[in-house]
Amino acid sequence: MLDRDTMVIVLIVGCGGLATVLGSVLSQMNAPEVQQSTMSRPLEKKAISLEHVPLATGDEPVEKLFVQAGCPVCHTIPGIPGAQGRQGPILVLGSTAHERLADANYQGQATTEREYILESVLNPGAYVVPGYPDRVMPRWYGQKLSAKALDKIADYLEQVMDPV
Ligand code: HEC
Repeated sequence: MLDRDTMVIVLIVGCGGLATVLGSVLSQMNAPEVQQSTMSRPLEKKAISLEHVPLATGDEPVEKLFVQAGCPVCHTIPGIPGAQGRQGPILVLGSTAHERLADANYQGQATTEREYILESVLNPGAYVVPGYPDRVMPRWYGQKLSAKALDKIADYLEQVMDPV
C-alpha cells in the first residue's frame, strides 16, 4: 500500500504530465490557425490595401489634387501655389505638348495633346523629355489616381501656357 504522502506526489506528477500532453496537443491543433490569423492573412490584406490606396479621388480642388499626388515636388506648375519643383520640366503643356508630339523621337501612342498629357502621367517612359532623366517620375500613377482625378489633371495642364 502507498502511504498518503506518496499518493499526493503521484497525483501531482500525474496531473503535470497530463497537462503537458494536453497542452502540446492543443497547441498543435491551434498552430495552423494562429499562424494564419497572425501572419499571412493580415499581411495579405495590408499589401492589397496599400496597393490601392488612392492619392486623389478627383473630388478635391485641382490645387489640392496636385499636392496630394506629389506632382509639385518635381514640377513647377504655373497657377498652383507652391509647385516649384525642378526635377522635371515646368508643366506648360498648352505650349509644349504639340512640340513633343512633333518630335522625331516621339514613339508613344498619343495623337492629341490631351492624350500626350495622360500618357505622360500613366506611362512616363513612353517619351522622356530631352534633358530630363527617365525613371524618376513614378510609374504607378495609373493605380493611384482615379479616372476623374486624371481628367482634372489633363483639363488643367492642357491649358497652361509658358509664362515667358
Ligand atoms: C519624382 C519626380 C516626379 C513626380 C513626383 C512627378 N513627375 Fe512628372 N516628370 C518627372 C520627370 C523627371 C519628367 C521628365 C522625364 C520624363 O519625360 O519622364 C516628367 C515628365 C512629366 C510630363 C511630361 C512633360 C512635358 O513637358 O512633356 C508630364 C505631363 C508630367 N511629368 C506630369 C506629372 C504629373 C501630373 C505628376 C503628378 C501626378 C507628376 N508628373 C509627378 C518627374 C516627376
